[in-house]
Amino acid sequence: MTDRTHTAAVNGATGAPLWLLAELTYRCPLQCAYCSNPLDFAAVKEELSTAEWIEVLTQARAMGAVQMGFSGGEPLVRQDLETLVAEARRLGFYTNLITSGLGLDEARIAALHAAGLDHIQISLQASDPEVAAAVAGSPKAHAKKLAMARAVKAAGYPMVLNVVLHRHNIDRLDDIIALCDELGADAVELANCQMYGWAQLNREGLLPSREQLEVAEATTARWRERLAERGHDMRLLFVVPDYYAERPKACMGGWGAIFMTVAPDGAVLPCHSARMLPMRFPNVRERPLREIWYDSEPFNRYRGDAWMREPCRSCDERHQDVGGCRCQAYLLTGDATATDPVCSLSPDHHLIEAARREADAAAAPMEALTPRNVHESRIFCRT
Ligand code: SF4
Ligand code: FES
Repeated sequence: MTDRTHTAAVNGATGAPLWLLAELTYRCPLQCAYCSNPLDFAAVKEELSTAEWIEVLTQARAMGAVQMGFSGGEPLVRQDLETLVAEARRLGFYTNLITSGLGLDEARIAALHAAGLDHIQISLQASDPEVAAAVAGSPKAHAKKLAMARAVKAAGYPMVLNVVLHRHNIDRLDDIIALCDELGADAVELANCQMYGWAQLNREGLLPSREQLEVAEATTARWRERLAERGHDMRLLFVVPDYYAERPKACMGGWGAIFMTVAPDGAVLPCHSARMLPMRFPNVRERPLREIWYDSEPFNRYRGDAWMREPCRSCDERHQDVGGCRCQAYLLTGDATATDPVCSLSPDHHLIEAARREADAAAAPMEALTPRNVHESRIFCRT
């Protein structure tokens, strides 16, 4: 079966990729122990050039992609970011910068604004500099992030903050939300750490207990009421960790359904975590994006439902959640075709229950976390 007939057989109705995530670089000044970059990021050396990225944007837009995110690593490390933003804008993309705020200053915000950047999201690690420094590996980052959050708002952007929650900062959620309120945030994503990349490596030290999670949900609810009473329109989005759900998420809206990631070296992935799966993903340096999206074997492998095994294959919910996340299934069971163990119907759900019990009992200190860093990454390098 050729790639093309495989496409027709599995999913004759493959739509266009609506979302493009441009992971411009894996380089980053921070060392977050929950980073979703691949463990072997140090093996990636040949980043796409400015001209190659412009070609990626052009091809993706021609295919129908409308939204795009610039991320990393830290995308501000790339000195051509403004050029790429301007090109994306010229092509008609809605553009979003996902950043730690490091590498940003007023002049750069103005330059990005002039280039047409639509939206900036800044990540915070904690409410206080000590925890933030311990998590991100930088004593100065916290103050810089707060300053840049203010500067972004002063430049006319909505202040959109992202805080990754885990067992070492979730008990301080009240202070975290208070800080966001004080900063004048317009929206805050309280995203419980998802277990991919470095987070999976550090799972035991990151997963909160059920009790911590319940307290955090109650805290968020209280803040929503308080904000509503004050008429302060700060949106709080609380993202529950997969490990405490009974059904999985429809990851990425389905494999190769709407979402396309281009990694720093041009590898094209259905999601930012897929790189560690045992398959070789095509590269924009070798094939046009259109051919990769519609016809390549990796993009077609988990489209539709023909690949599913029981219990998903005969489950009524399979079109809602697409059997969950392929990366999670692989990370937990070693088999990417397995039902996501998050699902209570999965024969592997006991793995999730064991992780929850571990989280209830464990008290691994923050110092035991392995920070994302080049030295450790080289240990995982396969090339
Ligand atoms: Fe979803 Fe599969 Fe669970 Fe059914 S068995 S709910 S399709 S993950
Ligand atoms: Fe890769 Fe879910 S993160 S499919």
